[in-house]
Amino acid sequence: MTMKIIGTGSCLGDRLVTNQDLAQIVETSDEWISSRTGIKGRRLTTGPGTSEMAAEAARRACEDGGVRPEELDLILLATSTPENHFPNGACEVQAAIGAVNAAAFDISAACTGFVFAMQTAYSFIAAGIFQKILVIGADDLSKITDWTDRKTCILFGDGAGAVVVEKGEGDTFGQIMGSDGSRGHVLTCKARSGGNFLTGKGPEMGYIHMDGQEVFKFAVKKVPECVEQVLKRQQVQKEDIRYYILHQANERIIDAVAKRLKEPMEKFPMDIQDHGNTSAASIPILLDELNRHGRLASGDKLIMAGFGGGLTWGALLMEW
Ligand code: UT7
Repeated sequence: MTMKIIGTGSCLGDRLVTNQDLAQIVETSDEWISSRTGIKGRRLTTGPGTSEMAAEAARRACEDGGVRPEELDLILLATSTPENHFPNGACEVQAAIGAVNAAAFDISAACTGFVFAMQTAYSFIAAGIFQKILVIGADDLSKITDWTDRKTCILFGDGAGAVVVEKGEGDTFGQIMGSDGSRGHVLTCKARSGGNFLTGKGPEMGYIHMDGQEVFKFAVKKVPECVEQVLKRQQVQKEDIRYYILHQANERIIDAVAKRLKEPMEKFPMDIQDHGNTSAASIPILLDELNRHGRLASGDKLIMAGFGGGLTWGALLMEW
């Protein structure tokens, strides 16, 4: 059996912030940011947070797929920036769109979150537990970004992307998931201190902290590796892949992955120049843009691959 995407949607932060805007607040330049990352601008949210953007992307995905929210059995929201510990963001989306028959929960795997959530959706469908699932990746990393740290603040954007999936014909679906908690320290964001009345410690929020070069090296090694693994497992040749839809973290990472895979850049669509790194949202936003621009045809074989905090990584192969 396989899983099919029947609708896509996305929603971006309401404000465009250019590299020139950032050069006003930290010591940087458009030249440095665009040559090192490929990013020219990003959309940040001044109002709607993660769940509101997620709900808007979800509405658009349901509309695109001709699905009524009441038909959904499950909502999975991949995010590292939920507004609350509870209710979870997926429940907030459920309430906002009126998906009264769905169970709803969040998945936390940083920038790999959407890939993990898709694999979770597939497992529920394959087990016959749920039929129609809404899978969302949404983050407003701007709220956990240290705007005095030029090494990280130039990278991120806010947004949400969503897909509706259901059981499909054929058997083109493959997945690889991996984690290495021992290297978690290279990309962190503290959520709370864990203090209580005995320790006398209060809650302590943190900002994103990243060893950029380590993450870079990890990504250019792991992404091609897991793509090769999923191709081998499914016995699919690279020539048969229409697009590699990679997590949009840095244009140089995508270039390096393409080189390692010995695949042409035309197979690696990108929107990082306009949106920056939107974490769990980057893959479904890009997928939605490809869909809306008519660049996907029935039967196209797609690979989606992500990497990020945890450390986590994953790839999935599916047919459009
Ligand atoms: O979603 C997953 C999360 N993150 C990632 O995927 C990020 C992966 N890493 C990267 O994309 C890159 O490592 C960065 C874009 C973050 C940094 O690029 P880099 O080529 O690795 O630069 P670097 O950290 O080696 O820094 C080179 C120089 C340093 O100056 P010195 O020590 O050579 O004098 C930095 O201080 O560039 C300096 N620098 C900047 N200069 C201007 C660092 N950030 C900036 C900046 N503007 N924004």
